[in-house]
Amino acid sequence: MNDQDGMDKDPSPTGELTLQTLAMPKDTNANGDIFGGWLVSQMDLAAGITMKRVAKGRSATVAIKNVNFLYPVNVGSTVSCYAEVEEIGRSSAHINIEVWIFNAGKDEHLRKVAEGLFIYVAIDDNGRTRPIPR
Ligand SMILES: CC(C)(COP(=O)(O)OP(=O)(O)OC[C@H]1O[C@@H](n2cnc3c(N)ncnc32)[C@H](O)[C@@H]1OP(=O)(O)O)[C@@H](O)C(=O)NCCC(=O)NCCS
Repeated sequence: MNDQDGMDKDPSPTGELTLQTLAMPKDTNANGDIFGGWLVSQMDLAAGITMKRVAKGRSATVAIKNVNFLYPVNVGSTVSCYAEVEEIGRSSAHINIEVWIFNAGKDEHLRKVAEGLFIYVAIDDNGRTRPIPR
């Protein structure tokens, strides 16, 4: 539940910390805030890392759903992507990604800034779907 400032009163990420990076000046949009496309790219990477483990090999993003940007990200923020596998099908997996930031030395509490559902499909060497090993 967010308060009026968009801050979680009881911050606690869901999922496993899968990717952590630093928001750099080159990743900004025209407003000087971090570009949403960059953030989605980090989320996709985190989901890809998780899918590699689940699928034990090659995979591809087939869909990205319900991406919400909850709060702007500033240059210098530490950006952490948390991944949780929600569902595993024959060849696909639904991986929920949450993005949380903190600013060491400034605003040290964790703040959830984005979330989204990434659907990956296990593929073979020819790019065709393959069953996820059980
Ligand atoms: C991934 C790809 C091989 C899937 O081929 P496809 O013919 O659509 O495969 P299918 O219809 O058999 O679907 C495979 C699985 O994905 C799921 N799926 C496909 N499209 C989906 C969508 N839009 N949303 C949710 N699930 C989807 C299916 O339900 C199925 O799941 P299951 O096997 O667990 O039951 C093909 O779509 C592809 O190559 N896409 C491009 C991938 C890519 O380049 N990604 C990076 C983008 S830059």
